[in-house]
Amino acid sequence: MGCDRNCGLITGAVIGAVLAVFGGILMPVGDLLIEKTIKKEVVLEEGTTAFKNWVKTGTEVYRQFWIFDVQNPEEVMVNSTNVKVKQVGPYTYRVRYLSKENITHDPLRNTVSFVQPNGAIFEPSLSVGSENDTFTVLNLAVAYNDTADGVYKVFNGKDDVSKVAIIDTYKDKRTLGYWPSYCDMVNGTDAASFPPFVEKTRILQFFSSDICRSIYAVFGAELDLKGISVFRFILPPKAFASPIQNPENHCFCTDPEISNNCTFYGLLDISKCKEGKPVIISLPHFLHATPEIRETIEGLHPDEEEHSTFLDVEPITGFTLQFAKRLQVNILVKPSKKIDAKALRCPKSDDDINMERHQVVAR
Ligand SMILES: *[C@@H]1O[C@H](CO)[C@@H](O)[C@H](O)[C@H]1NC(C)=O
Ligand SMILES: *[C@@H]1O[C@H](CO)[C@@H](O)[C@H](O)[C@H]1NC(C)=O
Ligand SMILES: *[C@@H]1O[C@H](CO)[C@@H](O)[C@H](O)[C@H]1NC(C)=O
Ligand SMILES: *[C@@H]1O[C@H](CO)[C@@H](O)[C@H](O)[C@H]1NC(C)=O
Ligand SMILES: *[C@@H]1O[C@H](CO)[C@@H](O)[C@H](O)[C@H]1NC(C)=O
Ligand SMILES: *[C@@H]1O[C@H](CO)[C@@H](O)[C@H](O)[C@H]1NC(C)=O
Repeated sequence: MGCDRNCGLITGAVIGAVLAVFGGILMPVGDLLIEKTIKKEVVLEEGTTAFKNWVKTGTEVYRQFWIFDVQNPEEVMVNSTNVKVKQVGPYTYRVRYLSKENITHDPLRNTVSFVQPNGAIFEPSLSVGSENDTFTVLNLAVAYNDTADGVYKVFNGKDDVSKVAIIDTYKDKRTLGYWPSYCDMVNGTDAASFPPFVEKTRILQFFSSDICRSIYAVFGAELDLKGISVFRFILPPKAFASPIQNPENHCFCTDPEISNNCTFYGLLDISKCKEGKPVIISLPHFLHATPEIRETIEGLHPDEEEHSTFLDVEPITGFTLQFAKRLQVNILVKPSKKIDAKALRCPKSDDDINMERHQVVAR
Protein backbone atom coordinates (compact mmCIF):
# COMPACT_ATOMS: atom_id res chain seq x y z
CA MET A 1 0.00 0.00 0.00
CA GLY A 2 2.49 2.64 -1.17
CA CYS A 3 0.40 5.49 -0.02
CA ASP A 4 2.39 8.47 1.13
CA ARG A 5 1.19 11.56 2.84
CA ASN A 6 0.03 13.21 -0.40
CA CYS A 7 -1.96 10.15 -1.33
CA GLY A 8 -3.62 10.18 2.07
CA LEU A 9 -4.47 13.79 1.64
CA ILE A 10 -5.89 13.18 -1.82
CA THR A 11 -7.99 10.24 -0.58
CA GLY A 12 -9.18 12.37 2.22
CA ALA A 13 -10.10 15.12 -0.19
CA VAL A 14 -11.91 12.68 -2.47
CA ILE A 15 -13.85 11.17 0.40
CA GLY A 16 -14.63 14.65 1.52
CA ALA A 17 -15.86 15.56 -1.93
CA VAL A 18 -17.95 12.39 -2.16
CA LEU A 19 -19.45 13.10 1.22
CA ALA A 20 -20.14 16.63 0.19
CA VAL A 21 -21.87 15.46 -3.00
CA PHE A 22 -23.87 12.86 -1.13
CA GLY A 23 -24.67 15.41 1.44
CA GLY A 24 -25.78 17.74 -1.30
CA ILE A 25 -28.05 15.10 -2.74
CA LEU A 26 -29.26 13.59 0.50
CA MET A 27 -30.15 16.78 2.19
CA PRO A 28 -32.87 17.92 -0.21
CA VAL A 29 -34.25 14.35 -0.31
CA GLY A 30 -34.25 14.29 3.47
CA ASP A 31 -35.96 17.66 3.57
CA LEU A 32 -38.63 16.51 1.16
CA LEU A 33 -39.22 13.41 3.24
CA ILE A 34 -39.43 15.41 6.42
CA GLU A 35 -41.72 17.92 4.79
CA LYS A 36 -44.01 15.17 3.53
CA THR A 37 -44.10 13.45 6.91
CA ILE A 38 -44.76 16.70 8.72
CA LYS A 39 -47.51 17.68 6.32
CA LYS A 40 -49.16 14.35 7.04
CA GLU A 41 -48.61 14.24 10.80
CA VAL A 42 -49.82 17.74 11.66
CA VAL A 43 -53.22 17.22 10.06
CA LEU A 44 -56.00 17.06 12.65
CA GLU A 45 -57.58 13.73 11.87
CA GLU A 46 -57.66 10.31 13.56
CA GLY A 47 -54.27 8.63 13.70
CA THR A 48 -51.88 11.56 13.34
CA THR A 49 -49.35 12.68 15.97
CA ALA A 50 -50.91 16.13 16.10
CA PHE A 51 -54.40 14.76 16.65
CA LYS A 52 -53.40 12.72 19.69
CA ASN A 53 -51.77 15.70 21.38
CA TRP A 54 -54.60 17.92 20.35
CA VAL A 55 -57.41 15.84 21.84
CA LYS A 56 -55.66 15.83 25.20
CA THR A 57 -52.72 18.13 25.93
CA GLY A 58 -49.56 16.08 26.36
CA THR A 59 -47.85 18.51 28.73
CA GLU A 60 -48.92 19.71 32.12
CA VAL A 61 -50.61 23.06 32.09
CA TYR A 62 -51.00 25.12 35.25
CA ARG A 63 -53.06 28.15 36.02
CA GLN A 64 -51.54 30.18 38.81
CA PHE A 65 -53.08 33.02 40.77
CA TRP A 66 -51.61 35.82 42.79
CA ILE A 67 -53.83 38.06 44.86
CA PHE A 68 -52.94 41.66 45.57
CA ASP A 69 -53.64 42.12 49.21
CA VAL A 70 -54.31 45.74 50.18
CA GLN A 71 -52.25 46.53 53.29
CA ASN A 72 -53.81 49.85 54.25
CA PRO A 73 -57.56 49.87 53.51
CA GLU A 74 -58.42 52.18 56.45
CA GLU A 75 -55.80 54.72 55.54
CA VAL A 76 -56.98 54.78 51.96
CA MET A 77 -60.61 55.29 52.96
CA VAL A 78 -59.98 57.88 55.66
CA ASN A 79 -56.92 59.72 54.43
CA SER A 80 -56.94 58.97 50.68
CA THR A 81 -53.38 57.83 50.77
CA ASN A 82 -51.86 55.62 48.13
CA VAL A 83 -52.86 52.01 48.12
CA LYS A 84 -50.15 49.66 49.34
CA VAL A 85 -50.42 46.18 47.89
CA LYS A 86 -48.67 42.96 48.63
CA GLN A 87 -48.77 40.13 46.16
CA VAL A 88 -49.69 36.76 47.67
CA GLY A 89 -49.21 33.60 45.66
CA PRO A 90 -48.90 31.54 43.65
CA TYR A 91 -51.93 29.35 44.16
CA THR A 92 -51.63 26.74 41.47
CA TYR A 93 -54.22 24.64 39.72
CA ARG A 94 -53.58 22.03 37.11
CA VAL A 95 -55.81 22.75 34.10
CA ARG A 96 -56.25 21.46 30.58
CA TYR A 97 -56.09 17.84 31.70
CA LEU A 98 -59.51 17.05 30.25
CA SER A 99 -59.89 15.82 26.69
CA LYS A 100 -61.69 17.89 24.13
CA GLU A 101 -65.30 16.81 23.82
CA ASN A 102 -67.90 16.50 21.09
CA ILE A 103 -65.22 16.24 18.42
CA THR A 104 -67.00 16.35 15.08
CA HIS A 105 -65.16 16.05 11.78
CA ASP A 106 -66.47 17.70 8.64
CA PRO A 107 -64.52 15.99 5.84
CA LEU A 108 -66.17 18.15 3.19
CA ARG A 109 -65.07 21.48 4.63
CA ASN A 110 -61.92 20.02 6.20
CA THR A 111 -62.82 21.29 9.65
CA VAL A 112 -63.20 19.75 13.08
CA SER A 113 -65.31 21.17 15.89
CA PHE A 114 -65.09 20.58 19.64
CA VAL A 115 -65.63 22.04 23.09
CA GLN A 116 -62.83 22.33 25.62
CA PRO A 117 -64.09 21.36 29.10
CA ASN A 118 -62.46 23.31 31.92
CA GLY A 119 -61.25 21.57 35.02
CA ALA A 120 -59.02 22.72 37.86
CA ILE A 121 -57.19 20.55 40.38
CA PHE A 122 -55.39 22.31 43.22
CA GLU A 123 -51.64 21.64 43.40
CA PRO A 124 -50.53 22.23 47.00
CA SER A 125 -46.87 21.54 46.16
CA LEU A 126 -46.82 24.46 43.73
CA SER A 127 -48.74 26.81 46.02
CA VAL A 128 -47.83 29.04 48.95
CA GLY A 129 -50.73 27.82 51.05
CA SER A 130 -53.98 25.95 50.88
CA GLU A 131 -56.80 27.03 48.63
CA ASN A 132 -58.71 27.98 51.78
CA ASP A 133 -56.22 30.82 52.37
CA THR A 134 -58.16 32.93 50.00
CA PHE A 135 -61.77 32.45 49.08
CA THR A 136 -61.17 34.35 45.88
CA VAL A 137 -58.87 31.74 44.46
CA LEU A 138 -61.14 28.91 45.48
CA ASN A 139 -64.21 30.70 44.11
CA LEU A 140 -62.51 31.36 40.81
CA ALA A 141 -61.52 27.73 40.54
CA VAL A 142 -64.94 26.43 41.51
CA ALA A 143 -66.59 28.76 39.01
CA TYR A 144 -64.18 27.50 36.37
CA ASN A 145 -64.74 23.79 37.04
CA ASP A 146 -67.53 22.15 35.07
CA THR A 147 -67.65 24.89 32.46
CA ALA A 148 -66.51 24.51 28.86
CA ASP A 149 -65.00 26.82 26.29
CA GLY A 150 -66.32 26.76 22.74
CA VAL A 151 -67.72 25.46 20.45
CA TYR A 152 -64.59 25.93 18.37
CA LYS A 153 -64.42 24.90 14.75
CA VAL A 154 -60.89 24.73 13.34
CA PHE A 155 -59.37 23.76 10.01
CA ASN A 156 -57.87 20.28 9.98
CA GLY A 157 -55.21 21.21 7.40
CA LYS A 158 -55.82 18.24 5.15
CA ASP A 159 -56.38 20.28 2.01
CA ASP A 160 -54.09 23.14 3.03
CA VAL A 161 -51.54 22.56 5.77
CA SER A 162 -51.00 26.31 6.14
CA LYS A 163 -54.47 26.50 7.71
CA VAL A 164 -54.14 23.69 10.26
CA ALA A 165 -55.60 24.54 13.70
CA ILE A 166 -56.70 27.99 12.56
CA ILE A 167 -60.09 28.81 14.04
CA ASP A 168 -62.85 29.00 11.47
CA THR A 169 -65.60 29.85 13.96
CA TYR A 170 -65.95 30.34 17.71
CA LYS A 171 -69.46 29.73 19.06
CA ASP A 172 -70.51 29.37 15.43
CA LYS A 173 -69.35 32.86 14.51
CA ARG A 174 -66.28 34.49 12.97
CA THR A 175 -66.63 37.53 15.19
CA LEU A 176 -67.08 38.01 18.93
CA GLY A 177 -69.62 40.80 19.26
CA TYR A 178 -67.46 42.68 21.80
CA TRP A 179 -65.45 45.08 19.67
CA PRO A 180 -66.15 47.31 16.70
CA SER A 181 -64.70 46.58 13.28
CA TYR A 182 -61.76 44.24 12.67
CA CYS A 183 -60.91 44.12 16.38
CA ASP A 184 -63.86 41.75 16.71
CA MET A 185 -62.42 39.09 14.40
CA VAL A 186 -61.51 35.63 15.67
CA ASN A 187 -58.06 35.17 14.16
CA GLY A 188 -55.43 32.48 14.19
CA THR A 189 -55.26 29.38 16.37
CA ASP A 190 -55.76 28.86 20.10
CA ALA A 191 -51.94 29.14 20.49
CA ALA A 192 -51.45 25.46 21.34
CA SER A 193 -50.03 24.98 17.85
CA PHE A 194 -49.56 26.90 14.63
CA PRO A 195 -49.36 25.88 10.97
CA PRO A 196 -45.98 24.17 10.42
CA PHE A 197 -42.75 25.54 8.93
CA VAL A 198 -42.75 28.64 11.09
CA GLU A 199 -40.39 31.36 9.89
CA LYS A 200 -38.98 34.05 12.13
CA THR A 201 -40.77 36.66 10.06
CA ARG A 202 -44.19 35.13 10.67
CA ILE A 203 -46.65 36.89 12.92
CA LEU A 204 -48.44 34.31 15.03
CA GLN A 205 -52.07 35.22 15.45
CA PHE A 206 -54.12 33.58 18.15
CA PHE A 207 -57.42 33.95 19.92
CA SER A 208 -57.64 33.88 23.69
CA SER A 209 -61.08 33.59 25.25
CA ASP A 210 -59.55 34.72 28.60
CA ILE A 211 -58.96 38.19 27.22
CA CYS A 212 -61.90 38.14 24.81
CA ARG A 213 -59.83 39.05 21.77
CA SER A 214 -57.46 37.91 19.09
CA ILE A 215 -53.88 38.99 19.55
CA TYR A 216 -50.49 38.21 18.03
CA ALA A 217 -46.92 37.36 18.87
CA VAL A 218 -43.71 38.14 17.01
CA PHE A 219 -40.36 36.39 16.92
CA GLY A 220 -38.16 37.27 19.87
CA ALA A 221 -35.33 34.75 20.15
CA GLU A 222 -34.16 31.31 19.22
CA LEU A 223 -33.51 29.03 22.16
CA ASP A 224 -32.75 25.51 23.15
CA LEU A 225 -35.43 23.66 25.07
CA LYS A 226 -34.03 20.37 26.39
CA GLY A 227 -32.14 19.87 23.13
CA ILE A 228 -34.91 21.07 20.84
CA SER A 229 -34.42 24.32 19.02
CA VAL A 230 -37.48 26.54 19.45
CA PHE A 231 -38.50 30.04 18.46
CA ARG A 232 -39.67 32.22 21.32
CA PHE A 233 -42.54 34.42 20.18
CA ILE A 234 -43.52 37.33 22.39
CA LEU A 235 -46.43 39.74 22.59
CA PRO A 236 -44.96 43.05 21.45
CA PRO A 237 -45.75 46.14 23.58
CA LYS A 238 -47.22 47.54 20.35
CA ALA A 239 -50.12 45.13 20.81
CA PHE A 240 -51.13 47.04 23.97
CA ALA A 241 -50.21 50.49 22.71
CA SER A 242 -52.70 53.34 22.79
CA PRO A 243 -54.42 54.22 19.52
CA ILE A 244 -52.20 57.31 19.45
CA GLN A 245 -49.06 55.17 19.30
CA ASN A 246 -50.63 52.44 17.19
CA PRO A 247 -53.75 53.52 15.25
CA GLU A 248 -54.60 49.85 14.60
CA ASN A 249 -55.68 49.61 18.25
CA HIS A 250 -58.40 52.27 18.03
CA CYS A 251 -61.21 49.72 18.12
CA PHE A 252 -59.92 48.23 21.38
CA CYS A 253 -60.37 51.60 23.07
CA THR A 254 -64.03 51.41 24.02
CA ASP A 255 -64.17 53.53 27.17
CA PRO A 256 -62.91 57.11 26.80
CA GLU A 257 -62.97 57.66 30.55
CA ILE A 258 -60.91 54.69 31.65
CA SER A 259 -58.47 55.20 28.82
CA ASN A 260 -58.21 58.94 29.35
CA ASN A 261 -59.55 59.58 25.85
CA CYS A 262 -57.61 56.67 24.42
CA THR A 263 -54.25 58.05 25.52
CA PHE A 264 -53.53 55.38 28.12
CA TYR A 265 -51.93 52.16 27.03
CA GLY A 266 -51.62 48.71 28.51
CA LEU A 267 -55.26 48.36 29.57
CA LEU A 268 -58.07 46.43 27.95
CA ASP A 269 -61.63 47.03 29.05
CA ILE A 270 -63.38 43.68 28.64
CA SER A 271 -66.60 44.58 30.49
CA LYS A 272 -68.65 43.83 27.38
CA CYS A 273 -67.44 40.26 27.54
CA LYS A 274 -68.06 39.97 31.32
CA GLU A 275 -71.77 40.83 31.43
CA GLY A 276 -71.01 44.48 31.98
CA LYS A 277 -68.83 43.94 35.07
CA PRO A 278 -66.07 46.55 35.07
CA VAL A 279 -63.22 44.15 34.33
CA ILE A 280 -60.01 45.59 32.96
CA ILE A 281 -57.18 43.40 31.81
CA SER A 282 -53.54 44.40 31.90
CA LEU A 283 -50.21 42.66 32.04
CA PRO A 284 -49.21 41.74 35.61
CA HIS A 285 -48.03 44.72 37.65
CA PHE A 286 -49.18 46.94 34.77
CA LEU A 287 -46.13 46.01 32.74
CA HIS A 288 -46.00 48.05 29.50
CA ALA A 289 -48.86 50.24 30.72
CA THR A 290 -49.03 54.00 31.19
CA PRO A 291 -46.85 54.74 34.26
CA GLU A 292 -49.54 57.03 35.75
CA ILE A 293 -51.74 54.00 36.38
CA ARG A 294 -49.10 52.59 38.68
CA GLU A 295 -48.32 55.83 40.46
CA THR A 296 -51.01 55.68 43.13
CA ILE A 297 -50.34 52.03 43.94
CA GLU A 298 -47.33 51.03 45.97
CA GLY A 299 -45.84 47.58 45.83
CA LEU A 300 -45.91 46.93 42.10
CA HIS A 301 -42.75 45.77 40.39
CA PRO A 302 -43.29 45.16 36.68
CA ASP A 303 -40.66 42.87 35.28
CA GLU A 304 -40.35 41.83 31.65
CA GLU A 305 -38.97 38.40 32.50
CA GLU A 306 -41.60 37.53 35.08
CA HIS A 307 -44.68 39.22 33.69
CA SER A 308 -44.61 38.99 29.91
CA THR A 309 -46.31 36.41 27.73
CA PHE A 310 -44.35 34.12 25.47
CA LEU A 311 -44.83 31.03 23.33
CA ASP A 312 -41.94 28.68 22.53
CA VAL A 313 -42.79 27.14 19.19
CA GLU A 314 -40.94 24.28 17.52
CA PRO A 315 -40.65 25.76 14.03
CA ILE A 316 -40.89 22.64 11.84
CA THR A 317 -44.07 21.21 13.36
CA GLY A 318 -45.51 24.50 14.65
CA PHE A 319 -46.23 22.92 18.04
CA THR A 320 -46.06 25.16 21.10
CA LEU A 321 -43.78 23.27 23.48
CA GLN A 322 -43.72 25.76 26.34
CA PHE A 323 -45.63 28.91 27.05
CA ALA A 324 -46.61 31.43 29.68
CA LYS A 325 -49.74 33.50 29.22
CA ARG A 326 -49.83 36.14 31.89
CA LEU A 327 -52.42 38.68 32.75
CA GLN A 328 -53.84 40.73 35.56
CA VAL A 329 -57.52 41.14 36.19
CA ASN A 330 -58.45 44.54 37.59
CA ILE A 331 -61.88 45.46 38.84
CA LEU A 332 -62.84 49.07 38.72
CA VAL A 333 -65.40 50.08 41.24
CA LYS A 334 -66.65 53.41 40.11
CA PRO A 335 -66.12 55.09 36.80
CA SER A 336 -63.22 57.41 37.11
CA LYS A 337 -61.50 59.88 34.85
CA LYS A 338 -58.44 57.79 35.11
CA ILE A 339 -57.58 54.60 36.83
CA ASP A 340 -56.91 55.85 40.18
CA ALA A 341 -56.21 53.79 43.23
CA LYS A 342 -59.09 55.49 44.96
CA ALA A 343 -61.40 54.06 42.37
CA LEU A 344 -60.22 50.60 43.14
CA ARG A 345 -62.22 48.70 45.65
CA CYS A 346 -61.11 48.50 49.22
CA PRO A 347 -61.49 44.97 50.42
CA LYS A 348 -64.12 44.41 53.05
CA SER A 349 -63.88 40.66 53.01
CA ASP A 350 -61.55 38.14 51.52
CA ASP A 351 -63.56 37.67 48.39
CA ASP A 352 -63.72 41.36 47.60
CA ILE A 353 -60.66 42.04 45.55
CA ASN A 354 -59.04 44.73 43.49
CA MET A 355 -56.59 42.95 41.35
CA GLU A 356 -55.40 39.48 40.81
CA ARG A 357 -52.67 38.13 38.65
CA HIS A 358 -53.02 35.00 36.56
CA GLN A 359 -50.52 33.00 34.66
CA VAL A 360 -51.12 29.92 32.60
CA VAL A 361 -47.95 27.96 32.00
CA ALA A 362 -47.01 24.75 30.29
CA ARG A 363 -43.67 23.18 30.96
C1 LIG B 1 -54.98 59.68 58.86
O1 LIG B 1 -54.02 60.69 58.98
C2 LIG B 1 -53.95 61.25 60.29
C3 LIG B 1 -52.98 62.42 60.25
O2 LIG B 1 -51.80 62.09 59.55
C4 LIG B 1 -53.50 60.17 61.27
O3 LIG B 1 -53.44 60.69 62.57
C5 LIG B 1 -54.49 59.03 61.20
O4 LIG B 1 -54.04 57.97 62.02
C6 LIG B 1 -54.68 58.52 59.78
N1 LIG B 1 -55.74 57.55 59.74
C7 LIG B 1 -55.56 56.28 59.37
C8 LIG B 1 -56.76 55.42 59.39
O5 LIG B 1 -54.48 55.84 59.04
C1 LIG C 1 -71.90 17.63 23.49
O1 LIG C 1 -72.96 17.25 22.63
C2 LIG C 1 -74.10 16.78 23.30
C3 LIG C 1 -75.08 16.27 22.28
O2 LIG C 1 -75.15 17.12 21.18
C4 LIG C 1 -74.68 17.89 24.15
O3 LIG C 1 -75.78 17.44 24.86
C5 LIG C 1 -73.61 18.35 25.14
O4 LIG C 1 -74.08 19.45 25.88
C6 LIG C 1 -72.35 18.75 24.41
N1 LIG C 1 -71.32 19.02 25.41
C7 LIG C 1 -70.79 20.20 25.57
C8 LIG C 1 -69.78 20.30 26.65
O5 LIG C 1 -71.11 21.17 24.89
C1 LIG D 1 -60.62 23.74 53.17
O1 LIG D 1 -61.96 23.92 53.57
C2 LIG D 1 -62.79 22.80 53.31
C3 LIG D 1 -64.23 23.15 53.65
O2 LIG D 1 -64.28 24.08 54.68
C4 LIG D 1 -62.27 21.62 54.15
O3 LIG D 1 -63.08 20.46 53.89
C5 LIG D 1 -60.84 21.32 53.74
O4 LIG D 1 -60.30 20.28 54.55
C6 LIG D 1 -59.98 22.58 53.88
N1 LIG D 1 -58.67 22.28 53.33
C7 LIG D 1 -57.54 22.62 53.94
C8 LIG D 1 -56.28 22.19 53.26
O5 LIG D 1 -57.52 23.23 54.97
C1 LIG E 1 -62.69 20.32 39.91
O1 LIG E 1 -63.08 19.00 39.53
C2 LIG E 1 -62.09 18.02 39.77
C3 LIG E 1 -62.55 16.71 39.18
O2 LIG E 1 -63.92 16.57 39.23
C4 LIG E 1 -61.80 17.94 41.26
O3 LIG E 1 -60.80 16.97 41.52
C5 LIG E 1 -61.31 19.30 41.73
O4 LIG E 1 -61.09 19.29 43.10
C6 LIG E 1 -62.34 20.36 41.39
N1 LIG E 1 -61.75 21.65 41.70
C7 LIG E 1 -62.37 22.59 42.40
C8 LIG E 1 -61.63 23.84 42.63
O5 LIG E 1 -63.51 22.45 42.81
C1 LIG F 1 -57.66 39.69 12.11
O1 LIG F 1 -57.07 39.42 10.85
C2 LIG F 1 -57.32 40.41 9.88
C3 LIG F 1 -56.75 39.90 8.57
O2 LIG F 1 -55.49 39.37 8.75
C4 LIG F 1 -56.71 41.72 10.33
O3 LIG F 1 -56.96 42.73 9.40
C5 LIG F 1 -57.31 42.11 11.68
O4 LIG F 1 -56.70 43.26 12.16
C6 LIG F 1 -57.14 41.00 12.68
N1 LIG F 1 -57.83 41.33 13.90
C7 LIG F 1 -57.34 41.11 15.11
C8 LIG F 1 -58.19 41.50 16.26
O5 LIG F 1 -56.26 40.60 15.30
C1 LIG G 1 -61.91 63.76 26.23
O1 LIG G 1 -62.21 64.54 25.09
C2 LIG G 1 -63.41 65.28 25.22
C3 LIG G 1 -63.69 65.97 23.89
O2 LIG G 1 -62.54 66.44 23.29
C4 LIG G 1 -63.26 66.29 26.36
O3 LIG G 1 -64.44 67.03 26.51
C5 LIG G 1 -62.95 65.52 27.63
O4 LIG G 1 -62.70 66.42 28.70
C6 LIG G 1 -61.73 64.63 27.47
N1 LIG G 1 -61.60 63.78 28.64
C7 LIG G 1 -60.45 63.52 29.22
C8 LIG G 1 -60.48 62.59 30.37
O5 LIG G 1 -59.40 64.01 28.83
